Amino acid sequence: MRYPRELLEEIRMQNDIVDIVSQYVPLKQKGSSYFGLCPFHHEKTPSFSVNSEKQFYYCFGCGASGNVYGFLMEMENMDFVEAVKELASRAHITLPEPERSAQVMAAERQKARLLEIHKKAGRFYYDVLQSQQGENARAYMQKRGMQPNAARKFGIGYAPDSRHALYDFLTQSGYSVEDLRLSGLILADKSGEGYHDRFRNRLMFPIFDAQARVVGFGGRILDKGEPKYLNSPETPLFSKSRNLYGLHLAKASKRKEFILVEGYMDMFSLYQAGFHNVVASLGTAFNQEHARTLKKYASDVILLYDSDEAGTNAALRAIPVLVENGIRVRVTQVPDGKDPDEYIRQNGAQAFARLLVDAVHYISFQIACIRKQYDLRIPEHKVRFATQAAEILAKLDSEIERNVYTTEVSRMTGVEESALQNEIQKRMRQADESFAQEAQRRRIQRQRQYGEVEKEEAGVIDAQKSLLYFSASHQHIYEILQNILTPEDFPTKAYADAFTAIGTLWAEAGNVFPAELISFFEDAQTQRQITAIFAAQPLEDAEFDLQKAIKEAVTILKRNRIAQEMAQAQTAEQIQACLEEKRKLEALHITI
Ligand code: CTP
Ligand code: MN
Repeated sequence: MRYPRELLEEIRMQNDIVDIVSQYVPLKQKGSSYFGLCPFHHEKTPSFSVNSEKQFYYCFGCGASGNVYGFLMEMENMDFVEAVKELASRAHITLPEPERSAQVMAAERQKARLLEIHKKAGRFYYDVLQSQQGENARAYMQKRGMQPNAARKFGIGYAPDSRHALYDFLTQSGYSVEDLRLSGLILADKSGEGYHDRFRNRLMFPIFDAQARVVGFGGRILDKGEPKYLNSPETPLFSKSRNLYGLHLAKASKRKEFILVEGYMDMFSLYQAGFHNVVASLGTAFNQEHARTLKKYASDVILLYDSDEAGTNAALRAIPVLVENGIRVRVTQVPDGKDPDEYIRQNGAQAFARLLVDAVHYISFQIACIRKQYDLRIPEHKVRFATQAAEILAKLDSEIERNVYTTEVSRMTGVEESALQNEIQKRMRQADESFAQEAQRRRIQRQRQYGEVEKEEAGVIDAQKSLLYFSASHQHIYEILQNILTPEDFPTKAYADAFTAIGTLWAEAGNVFPAELISFFEDAQTQRQITAIFAAQPLEDAEFDLQKAIKEAVTILKRNRIAQEMAQAQTAEQIQACLEEKRKLEALHITI
């Protein structure tokens, strides 16, 4: 573990899990638990619970569980250290420099060098654009209405029409060929002898990350030619399926609603016209990673893709990705197949602002798109359209939204609302059923991941969990058990470690707090296993015989271990030893 445990615990206690989860999931209180819709799988009735007393979350639907660290790790796609940093900063706790391995430090130094290379390259392209060599590029910019002020803000530059101008510049600045190649800006010649620049004779758009550091480039050809845009390849700094163009500027706009466009120039022109909350997904389909990145800064998106067929299809594909990630989506398009850049240049900012006002709920857009495929005067088309619309409406979680759009479809087709509603209900039931199957499949999958292989009987797992639960709840039980059991008696690795950790906590902290125990384990899978100890806890009421329950569980674990040893025994002595163990077990007496 990199940070001292006390510190991790301090940070965890300063971040109430109910507060953190509430920032993502609306929760309703029931006793010391809170319930909401699980953010980790799609559901319509809440099976996601947050236990305020024990400070962990657990989903009865898909089995997702963990403490506040685990929640952020899954929700924000963070690793453990990132989650620690985030929570520490929320609690205004200063972290010491963590100890890092030599390997991690080398990777960090390399990343720092790559950032420096990109910064230098950006500066280089920028200077070339201002120089005599940049004349054609400046003329091109003028032709496209790119104003110097905005261009400066975007760091627009020009890659000269020369085979290795950037290579020469960067090697003279002292960077190694290895780093230059890793940056993706320099390529090896086919001959294998020399090197050349990836970008030549192109208008350069630096791509910034959310911290406003240059991590890649897009280069547009000045004349006609292929490819129109050339982008940085995947590098340790840049990934086109994660980075969004303009994110650092949109983030600075402090708006919670972002306009999502397709291209560099759309983003540029909108910004220049005063719309600062714009991002572009660059020449690749909008995906889950984009959505998660976006979600950190925006709650609403106006989708503004090109109005041609490709753009419409891309918008239809982006909608579910956004919606699944909890982003509210409206859609608008520019008339007559123009893209936003051309539209705003020809019609001005005011006309453009009206397009934004006219943006419709994504459902209206989806319905309008399928509507175009049918001639509603033909009865058969009516049926097919209404059926397809019902399919879309069945995916809506909000009953109010469903009603509003059902009425609309009914009006469009003349099909009775009640008939549409029946169709929608039928599809919702089907979806629920296939969800139940999916949840079951996931539960099994997770169990396998835990290493709880099928041949390990359920009884053995339950026995481990209940012994750990009692050991964590009562110190005297732990003390009795640690005289009888060793970690090796727990066949599940995580549970053997948990038994040791519980001992450490009793000795050092004087109490065992479930969420603290979970913090002993950094990977999300093990955290889930540990949470399971506390998730389904036995009721210790008057009728409950604690002593008997513990004895039964101990017997199960001991028998299991003896059976394993017996199976592996090779000498007479070993078999003798097993039999001896067995006799001892029969005589076992536990007094609580
Ligand atoms: N794109 C790309 N590579 C290409 C073509 C396009 O990466 N060969 C990406 C770019 O991010 C581009 C976006 O896809 O901005 C949309 O492409 P397109 O509509 O063809 O270009 P425009 O944005 O209209 O570009 P321009 O206005 O400069 O012609
Ligand atoms: Mn264009």
